[in-house]
This record gives sequence, C-alpha cells and structure tokens, in this order.
Amino acid sequence: MAAGGVAIVTGAARRIGREIALALAEDGYAVLVHYGSSEASALEVVEQIRNKGGLAMTVSADLAEPELSATRICDAACELGSPTLLINSAAVFEDLPLPQISPRHCLEHFTVNAIAPILLAREFVARLPASAAGQIISLLDWRALHPPTDHLVYTASKAALASITLTLAQQLAPQIRVNGIALGAILAPPGRADWHQQRAAEQIPLRRHGTPRDVVSALRFLISNDFMSGEILQLTGGEHL
Ligand SMILES: NC(=O)c1ccc[n+]([C@@H]2O[C@H](COP(=O)([O-])OP(=O)(O)OC[C@H]3O[C@@H](n4cnc5c(N)ncnc54)[C@H](OP(=O)(O)O)[C@@H]3O)[C@@H](O)[C@H]2O)c1
Repeated sequence: MAAGGVAIVTGAARRIGREIALALAEDGYAVLVHYGSSEASALEVVEQIRNKGGLAMTVSADLAEPELSATRICDAACELGSPTLLINSAAVFEDLPLPQISPRHCLEHFTVNAIAPILLAREFVARLPASAAGQIISLLDWRALHPPTDHLVYTASKAALASITLTLAQQLAPQIRVNGIALGAILAPPGRADWHQQRAAEQIPLRRHGTPRDVVSALRFLISNDFMSGEILQLTGGEHL
C-alpha cells in the first residue's frame, strides 16, 4: 500500500476528477481511477501516475447501476489496499426545459449524483478497518444551495447530495469525516467556454473562473484538517454571495 493510503476517485478519467486523481497520487495515495466511458483517458491517468512511481489502477462502472457499481468500485480499490478516502466527482449535468423532462432524465441524475454516492459510502464503510480513519468528500455545486432558473433536475440532485453529506458526517463520525466542496465556475462544459467567461465578467466578484488546481487546494485543506467534518466549502470566487 502507498504511504498515503488508498483513494477512490469517481469520474477520474477527465477534467476535475483527473486532476484530483493526479494530485492525490502526488500526495502518496494509491489511486483507484474510476471511469464510466472514458477508458483511454483513464488508462492515461494511471500511466501518468505509474510513470512518477505511484500506484494506481482503473475500474469501469456505470453509476446509473449504483448497487453493482458501488461493490465493483470498492472491491477494486481493495486490490490496492484498504481504501480510506472516497472522492465523489462523477456526475451527470444536463439541462432540459420542463416540458421535456422525463422520468429517465430525473432518474439518471438522481441515481448517478445522489444514490451512487450513498451506496459507495455504504460499501466504503463496510471495507474500512476498525482501526482506520476514513474520509468522504463530494463535489457539490453552490448553485444547488441557491437554486438558479436552469438545470432543474441536476440542481435538485446536487442539493440531495449536500444533504447526504451533512447526514453522513453525523452518522459516520467519529471514524469517518464527511465533507463537500460546492464548486462555482471551474471548467465550462464542452462547447460552453463563454458561459464561464460571462459569469467571470459579470457575476464573480474575483473576476475570474476557478481552475482544477483551486479544487485540489480546497480538497487538500479538507483532507489535512482533522477537526473538520460536515463542512461544505464554497469555492466560487465569491459568486455565491
Ligand atoms: N466543472 C465545473 O465548473 C463544476 C461546477 C460545479 C460543480 N461541479 C462538480 O464537480 C464534479 C466534477 O466536474 P466535471 O466538470 O469534471 O464533471 P464532468 O466532466 O461533467 O463529469 C465527470 C465524469 O462523470 C462521469 N460520469 C457521468 N455519468 C456517469 C455514469 N453513469 N457512470 C460512471 N461515470 C459517469 C464521466 O465519466 P466518463 O467520462 O468516464 O464516462 C465524466 O467524465 C462534478 O460532480 C460536478 O457536478 C463542476
């Protein structure tokens, strides 16, 4: 096992999850790089970690099948050692106008964004040795706590995950600390760079969007602070104010 323990990062093949996986490997964690469909990118992340002397492996699992996925992911992590850190980064993020919203759209968002993290927590807890301290950190969205006019279902699913975070922090203490980071504009969705640029110019007090390094910095703070649980950090450049 690596010096830092074993970390599970969901949605770690690309974008923010990828940067988190690479950073945790730098910090000495053995990293389970979970992916849904981005196999080639996940393998690249693992290769990059191994090239720097780290320990990592991939696992594919469709979080829309949360029961199977949670078991598969946590079992895979155990091949690296005992997982002590679970990062929920994978998410579905789609917007539909109300007339087009279907049960399928709702189910996908709630299953991937909220139910999968619950079942992952269940399986993570079941494998955590009694003597080990664990942590769960979920990537949330400040707009889930101040609902906007768009992304109705996504927003509700992230609000559910915020609630789950606060309840689990109480249920799993003192062995496991549970926290969240409510992100603002970090990486724009593909093809929508103008969305974050416009928010930076008009809405974000710090007049810039964030970067994955900002997320990693907040994550490292949560990981290293032993007295912090049930906290949701707002990482927004002040946009939530
Ligand atoms: N980007 C931002 O500015 C921002 C702002 C607010 C909150 N957040 C939150 O921060 C986290 C990371 O953001 P991001 O923009 O990097 O996320 P993203 O690119 O939208 O999605 C991350 C990964 O989620 C995985 N995923 C989606 N559905 C899945 C499924 N059914 N099964 C397995 N994996 C699935 C995908 O993996 P594959 O590619 O392998 O399929 C995808 O690469 C998310 O939770 C997001 O809600 C981000």
